[in-house]
Amino acid sequence: MTETEPNAVPKLEIRPLSDAPDTREQLAELLVHTVAGGGSVGFMHPLTREAASAFWDGTLAAAARGERIILGSWDGPSLTGTVTLILHMPPNQPHRAEIAKMMTHPRWRGQGVATALLRAAEALAAERGRTLLVLDTASDGGAAGLYERAGYTFAGELPGYALKPHGGLTGTRLYWKRIGEGAA
Ligand SMILES: CC(C)(COP(=O)(O)OP(=O)(O)OC[C@H]1O[C@@H](n2cnc3c(N)ncnc32)[C@H](O)[C@@H]1OP(=O)(O)O)[C@@H](O)C(=O)NCCC(=O)NCCS
Repeated sequence: MTETEPNAVPKLEIRPLSDAPDTREQLAELLVHTVAGGGSVGFMHPLTREAASAFWDGTLAAAARGERIILGSWDGPSLTGTVTLILHMPPNQPHRAEIAKMMTHPRWRGQGVATALLRAAEALAAERGRTLLVLDTASDGGAAGLYERAGYTFAGELPGYALKPHGGLTGTRLYWKRIGEGAA
């Protein structure tokens, strides 16, 4: 653990991740902890380390093919958070990208990690000529506040959309944001 003051903003280094054993291990640990803590990121609790590792194997391979960018936020050797920018879209939506799998390690929450990851993902999307970002977040226990503060517009809610990691249905809230040349 790094020696930061309580509430001090950690010195974050944000960079695209590629497949390496230590990176995959830290991503898997982050995913398992997030799901155990009730984070709605597509999985049910309990999530095994093996299943989490297999998920990142597949998604890091997609990143290697240029279909997505997996950003990691680092405090020295420790992965503090991650977000995925999905670039692979149908041929009629080349201007669009999606934000997914936003997670901050519980130890680093409330210090601006997710906000910094979101800004970095938006900058990379704009650099690639994307003008519309879309995302969804669980109505119950999701990150709606984070996205609303970052300028995302609420498009609507799908009721009873997914199971929460510990069971019980939650709706999902859909958000969008124009970026780059698409921004007003
Ligand atoms: C949602 C999640 C990614 C937010 O991560 P985070 O790094 O804590 O987010 P940020 O620090 O950027 O902002 C979160 C909060 O901290 C506050 N904050 C930001 N910088 C801060 C700072 N320097 N000091 C104290 N608080 C700060 C923000 O105002 C925000 O306030 P809120 O609690 O009212 O929402 C994290 O809680 C998480 O991993 N949750 C589980 C998974 C999940 O639900 N992911 C979303 C899927 S769509």
